[in-house]
Amino acid sequence: MPLIEWTAELSVGIESIDEQHKKLVNMINALNDAMLTNSSNELLGKIFTGLAAYTQKHFAYEENMFAEYGYTDSEEHKRQHNELIAQVVELKEKFIENPQGTMSADLMLFLKRWLTNHIMRTDKEYAEFLLSKGVK
Ligand SMILES: [Fe+2]
Ligand SMILES: [Fe+2]
Repeated sequence: MPLIEWTAELSVGIESIDEQHKKLVNMINALNDAMLTNSSNELLGKIFTGLAAYTQKHFAYEENMFAEYGYTDSEEHKRQHNELIAQVVELKEKFIENPQGTMSADLMLFLKRWLTNHIMRTDKEYAEFLLSKGVK
């Protein structure tokens, strides 16, 4: 069973955003699988680096949409994005410095919550706004 199961609960109802969120879910699941199967640190590092990079790309995509549609709560949302990016980048750097001491079930649980809490609480707020503006 994957660490994060994609369910309707995670859908924000906007296709492009759901696709990007699924990709993030898949990356965290891949990291977890790689950890559980004792994959090389090189592979783990690649997946982790990819996750941090794609997170930044995805957040920038959301922030562009906020600007395009005049989302009123964008400042608070961006503040959260910056915090989440700082967390994932820090964990990734920590892993690169000390691979053995960093990967753990706790870390994976943290990443699971890190992503799903943001989607279910914060992203759903802008989704409601964008859907009301006719975004699909
Ligand atoms: Fe998102
Ligand atoms: Fe977001």
